[in-house]
Amino acid sequence: MKEQLAKIRAEALSAFESAMDAAGLDALRIKYLGKKGELTAVLKQMGKLTAEERPAMGQLANDVRAALEQAVGTAARKLEEAALERRLQTETVDVTMPGAAPRQGHRHPMYIALDQIKEIFIGMGFEVLDGPEIELAELNFDRLNAEEGHPSRDWSDTFYFDADSRVMLRSQTSPMQVRAMDSRRPPIRIIAPGRVFRKDEVDATHSPMFHQVEGMVIDKGVTMADLKGTLSLVMEKLYGEGTVTRFRPHHFPFTEPSCEMDVQCHKCGGVGCPTCKGEGWIEILGAGMIHPRVLEMAGIDPEVYSGWAFGMGLERLAMRQFKIADLRLIFENDIRFLEQF
Ligand code: PHE
Repeated sequence: MKEQLAKIRAEALSAFESAMDAAGLDALRIKYLGKKGELTAVLKQMGKLTAEERPAMGQLANDVRAALEQAVGTAARKLEEAALERRLQTETVDVTMPGAAPRQGHRHPMYIALDQIKEIFIGMGFEVLDGPEIELAELNFDRLNAEEGHPSRDWSDTFYFDADSRVMLRSQTSPMQVRAMDSRRPPIRIIAPGRVFRKDEVDATHSPMFHQVEGMVIDKGVTMADLKGTLSLVMEKLYGEGTVTRFRPHHFPFTEPSCEMDVQCHKCGGVGCPTCKGEGWIEILGAGMIHPRVLEMAGIDPEVYSGWAFGMGLERLAMRQFKIADLRLIFENDIRFLEQF
């Protein structure tokens, strides 16, 4: 038995050393050290030994097992190191090879237009405000003089969150007028760009989500002439000197008088074409003198202060600027389209 153990030890040690890979080594480990392996087979014969012989032989068998286990461990580490070395050799990176240039993106055309608008207004002393898209109906409607029963409050026009119609996705950026009046005292000059939401079907000029830029000025002695002068100047800065605009009377509950501003169609120069639906003009914003009641509700004395406000559709503006015929292109985020700007 002693000889058997010595033979196993010698054979196994040399076999472990010459193993070529991890799988081969594992097969050898099972062959010698496994439950049905050679060492176990010898140990099963222990029963045949006398009681005096057993302890010494047991000790020897344990020594052999320990030696073999250690040898397997050493061989496994060597194989691992060799494998790593081979991988490092084959995976070396040639740092002199030309790299693949990452694709560079750029700003979305609508944000290019918005940045220009912001710059123009900041240059005229306006502050840029940001406000919530989830708004109180009180600010979106009541404080803007559109009380219960006003058609724009209807469930078919507005996204409400609750059954009693208190919280909603803002349908216009105009509640930012109220937020500005509540948080500062005149003179106030602000613009507030952002998303607005209405229950509209998607087509070439409509989307249930679109963007507006709100603007408001409140000071002593502010008149409709300031409104017209400022907005005409903004359009000339955006579209070039000599850009033709016109103001038409309109109605908004929170302005009096109210108007809409059109810019002459860029496609046909005012003659009438599909882009302007034959009108020669494109409606670009709603505006007006802030209703005295709106000032009053914000605690601003309409006998002392007056103001004007406007709200323009940002998509329409970008469409005009970049000659985009379909509103949907702005939101589809097709790289082939966006890359052109
Ligand atoms: N909020 C109006 C709209 O969405 C636009 C507007 C803003 C009109 C400010 C007048 C003053 O149509």
